[in-house]
Amino acid sequence: MSVIRSVVAGTGSYLPEKILTNNDLEKIVDTTDEWIVERTGIKRRHIAADDEVTSDLAVRAAKNALTSAGIDAAQIDLIVLATSTADQTFPSTATTVQRKLGITKGAAFDVQAVCSGFIYALATADNFIKAGQAKNALVIGAEIFSRILDWEDRATCVLFGDGAGAVVLTASSGEGNNTDQGILSSRIHSDGRYNDLLYVDGGVSSTGTIGHLRMKGREVFRHAVVNLASVVGEVLDDCSMTSADVDLIVPHQANKRILDGTARKLKVPLEKVVVTVQDHANTSAASIPLALDVAVKDGRITRGDILILEAMGGGFTWGACLLRW
Ligand code: UT7
Repeated sequence: MSVIRSVVAGTGSYLPEKILTNNDLEKIVDTTDEWIVERTGIKRRHIAADDEVTSDLAVRAAKNALTSAGIDAAQIDLIVLATSTADQTFPSTATTVQRKLGITKGAAFDVQAVCSGFIYALATADNFIKAGQAKNALVIGAEIFSRILDWEDRATCVLFGDGAGAVVLTASSGEGNNTDQGILSSRIHSDGRYNDLLYVDGGVSSTGTIGHLRMKGREVFRHAVVNLASVVGEVLDDCSMTSADVDLIVPHQANKRILDGTARKLKVPLEKVVVTVQDHANTSAASIPLALDVAVKDGRITRGDILILEAMGGGFTWGACLLRW
């Protein structure tokens, strides 16, 4: 049976120039490099310049992805952008990116699933492609979390960073089985009962302010490994595969201990997990495409590899995607 598959044709990323190290943070809040590294694995993070907005980061990443795919912006007929730190309340940051890339056709919209945003965006774009409604999609994760952090709260401000990553998905034909190239399965979940464990305490219709990120870190942690291992199991089952078939996991980068715990639960050796949290910190929806671009560029990902992308974030939301590169 012939089916349409979404194949990753190219990746790109962008990190703001300014780097904030753990030692820099020691001067801002009561923390230590030792505590941050031991509890999270984070050593440094990038921070956007005052005159940079989320769409600027997204456009840089998107242009790099288009170049890597060898596709002209004019061929893009869908932009799905995951962010929780939009340029404006409206219009969507995706339409701003569309304008900045000179694209005037197709559709562009934002997806809001916090740290799971990129998986949600990828699953959405994949469904449009599989339905025959788009041929070349730009899927972007872009965030400036530094603007929603409470820089007096040491429990959260040390954990996050800014950045953007993007992939170009292209429609390709497949056989409909697990030997196909492209996205083979994606699963997304949410459970709104956990809203109060990770949220921003402001908003247009509530306080009329932007607000600050608030998190009960230990409780989020408790749910993360269980939910991630479970959703990865689902995409493996969908494809009649086991963790032994996986060449590389590219997880959302929240905390090194979560990455290790999930890998252990899945019985995947740590060498098969892409880890960038030490350099990027948690960049929310941008972390997976940023990590993906690192692993493509350093040669760890090659055509034919089986990859798992997985994330969990505020909402709660969580999801995973299994693809053959
Ligand atoms: O991407 C979305 C998903 N988000 C996550 O996955 C985050 C999940 N959670 C975590 O990564 C961890 O829970 C944290 C890294 C946030 C915290 O690690 P923890 O081992 O759970 O520490 P804790 O929150 O239980 O805090 C332990 C201690 C506390 O002191 P007391 O009460 O034991 O005296 C905190 O006040 O560490 C203290 N603490 C700090 N100390 C130095 C909290 N933040 C800091 C800090 N520097 N930055």
